[in-house]
Amino acid sequence: MERDIERVLISAEELEAKVAEMGKQISKDFEGKEPIFVGVLKGCFIFMADLMRHVSIKCSMDFMAVSSYKGTTSTGAVKINKDLNENIEGKHIIIVEDILDSGITLNYLKKYLEGRNPASISIATLMDKPARRKADVYANYSCFEIPDAFVVGYGLDYNETYRNLPYIGVLKPEIYE
Ligand code: IMP
Ligand code: MG
Repeated sequence: MERDIERVLISAEELEAKVAEMGKQISKDFEGKEPIFVGVLKGCFIFMADLMRHVSIKCSMDFMAVSSYKGTTSTGAVKINKDLNENIEGKHIIIVEDILDSGITLNYLKKYLEGRNPASISIATLMDKPARRKADVYANYSCFEIPDAFVVGYGLDYNETYRNLPYIGVLKPEIYE
């Protein structure tokens, strides 16, 4: 698995420090608001697990599963495979996503959830690739701004593999070419 990685973009230590910082900031900003963290599966699972351990306020968690990607290029289509279990009306929502790329997924998701009248919707993303943005969506919280490269690890996959790498790595181009 490791031999498919060209270089480490973000080390485990850097991830730990930035994710902790984000957890503390969100705790400060949402003090007394009891937000619902909505994780976007599957990519969020490691990031969210680490983030939540640095969130010190009363809150709840729920998950959605969406698919928009085949391989390394967006199909532009978003499909909801698993919806929320909780009622979000009047609640403060924080969407937790692995990476904001074209923005098509989050733009769709945000609009979809807005239709259920939450008090607010914020976006917390581990990584942001602003160079590839197509939809008008931005992150309220972002740990790392990254260049236009296809990355894997720490929850992110290429065709369902590499999610278990403890760091963010750039995949060798020959793996997906
Ligand atoms: P968007 O709709 O283009 O913003 O894409 C969002 C989704 O595409 C993310 O939640 C990821 O699952 C996937 N994605 C985008 N870029 C990458 C990448 O570099 N590596 C792995 N998955 C990615
Ligand atoms: Mg994802």
